[in-house]
Amino acid sequence: MTQDELKKAVGWSALKFVQPGTIVGVGTGSTASHFIDALASMKDQIKGTVSSSEASTAKLKSYGIPVFDANEVDSLDIYVDGADEINHHMQMIKGGGAALTREKIIAAIAKKFICIADESKVVDVLGKFPLPVEVIPMARSYVARELFKLGGRPIYRQGVITDNGNVILDIHDLLISEPITLETKINNIAGVVTVGLFANRGANVALIGTANGVKELKL
Ligand code: A5P
Repeated sequence: MTQDELKKAVGWSALKFVQPGTIVGVGTGSTASHFIDALASMKDQIKGTVSSSEASTAKLKSYGIPVFDANEVDSLDIYVDGADEINHHMQMIKGGGAALTREKIIAAIAKKFICIADESKVVDVLGKFPLPVEVIPMARSYVARELFKLGGRPIYRQGVITDNGNVILDIHDLLISEPITLETKINNIAGVVTVGLFANRGANVALIGTANGVKELKL
């Protein structure tokens, strides 16, 4: 199976977590895009969605699926999204598609985070994938210097402006042995909006696409 076929398989398998009559948190990226295709098949049974990016919102709307503002929603049962890496503690690196801030907000609102990923995303130690950090533009150089002190090599993602009008620094060459501590440290740097490390709030369920079918992981 190709990587995209594995992504499609997990995207569709997440449908079993969608309860009729609810509002569903929807992620961003190529795997989440397959989930949106799947969700469209039961669009008349759900109340709507909360979306983590303008790209996902556009796709949801193209299917005629209602998209609510996060401020209109008290709580969400589930949030379904992909990951750039996931470890065996269900902690993740996210933000390869630059949507990390809205993703983290929806993950915080949702009771259950369902991670959908192909098996290439499963790692023992997070950090091979460069860790994205969304930064207020005027703080870019300062934050880069602070991230360098943490042992990584921050690189400015040229030409990318997030949906929130900010910029992204990707931290290369940082093997993350203590994800929770690192997330807290980066969160404390002035000018950081969000770090794409989802360690304090990891996934509750991971649906992993493998050549032998979709495997379900839980803590
Ligand atoms: C978007 O900002 C990301 O967090 C995505 O969830 C992540 O990059 C996974 O993307 P793919 O599903 O395209 O691999």
